[in-house]
Amino acid sequence: MKQEVKPVPLSGPYVDEREEEAVAEVLRSGRLSLGPTIDRFEELFAEKAGAPYAAAVSSGTAGLHLLCVTAGIGAGDEVITSPYSFAASANCFIYEGATPVFADVDARTLNMDPAAVEAAVTPRTRAIVAVDIYGYPCELDELRAIAERHGLALIQDACEALGARYRGGQIGSHGPSAVFAFYPNKQMTTGEGGIVTTHSEEEWRLLRSLRNQGRGDAGGWLEHVRLGFNYRLDDIGAAIGIVQLEKLDGILALRNEAAERYGELLRDIDGVELPCENDEDHVRSWFVYVVTLPDNAARERVIAHFERERIGYNRYLPSIHLQPYMRERYGFREGLCPVSEDASSRTLALPFFTAIERDAQERVAEALAAAL
Ligand SMILES: Cc1ncc(COP(=O)(O)O)c(C=O)c1O
Repeated sequence: MKQEVKPVPLSGPYVDEREEEAVAEVLRSGRLSLGPTIDRFEELFAEKAGAPYAAAVSSGTAGLHLLCVTAGIGAGDEVITSPYSFAASANCFIYEGATPVFADVDARTLNMDPAAVEAAVTPRTRAIVAVDIYGYPCELDELRAIAERHGLALIQDACEALGARYRGGQIGSHGPSAVFAFYPNKQMTTGEGGIVTTHSEEEWRLLRSLRNQGRGDAGGWLEHVRLGFNYRLDDIGAAIGIVQLEKLDGILALRNEAAERYGELLRDIDGVELPCENDEDHVRSWFVYVVTLPDNAARERVIAHFERERIGYNRYLPSIHLQPYMRERYGFREGLCPVSEDASSRTLALPFFTAIERDAQERVAEALAAAL
């Protein structure tokens, strides 16, 4: 009888008894939300990211939305963001009534090209949402200069970039408020969850109020001083987050090793273009491992092969402006952002997670080589 091949998952969290014990402790304490664990998690995270303040929230999307609220983005505004990202990078300001304007990406880094951002600015532009896609730092200084020149808010969507470094500093340390996400496929997880780092105490207080139904610092449980949301992270998630933060350096090192192994295994396969290399100013934190294939047909051939071999994959990332709801709402069509669209047609995420082992990666490499 033919032996079943073992599946290789696309991703997975890196948790063990330490997280189990931390969760049990919170459960035993009876303080499941708005307890001491959340404050501790925020302090530890801020320290790690090199920012003075951090406000934990229920997801990366919630954090981005709150920064759009604190930036005062509203109806009639335009906000510039990357088409080659996860939908939340644009949804966060659409919730506030603003219109998305997509600036095409650089073909090498897949991050927004500052020249395209500059060209997209109009008198109605209110903000830029900059994304560090696949954990590779965006051109923060250039984008910041554009924002300053035109009086725009700059929001950093660092949901995929915990641990990345730009010009020698941790993402989160440079000044613009940044959002990190903790869904289980991320470098670290809290189950669902996210966090906003800020360099402004005033903004931090506002974020903590906004995530907690607009309650004030002083008033009671039933006093709401502003329109707020329930975007709280609970203490169970925060407890997982604290343990994950303790492990983070080890996690990032293991992910670096896994990425290096892929580099070695895939380097000589014809038709596989590897993720762009680090340079002095940009050091990636490995979130996913995305390769670029010669064309869409080649990608589909690889996918068919992966399915037979029970290897996980995803077509990371479709261009946001071509999603069905975007076409319908704004009439966006092919040709708006050709670099992003080209990447979307032929980039593929391979199985990648902290504990991935060499033999699984070898199987992925063999399947890629065979399909191509
Ligand atoms: C670039 C980017 N922005 C925003 C998000 C949203 O994070 P969450 O899923 O925690 O809402 C993600 C998550 O995948 C992301 O990758």
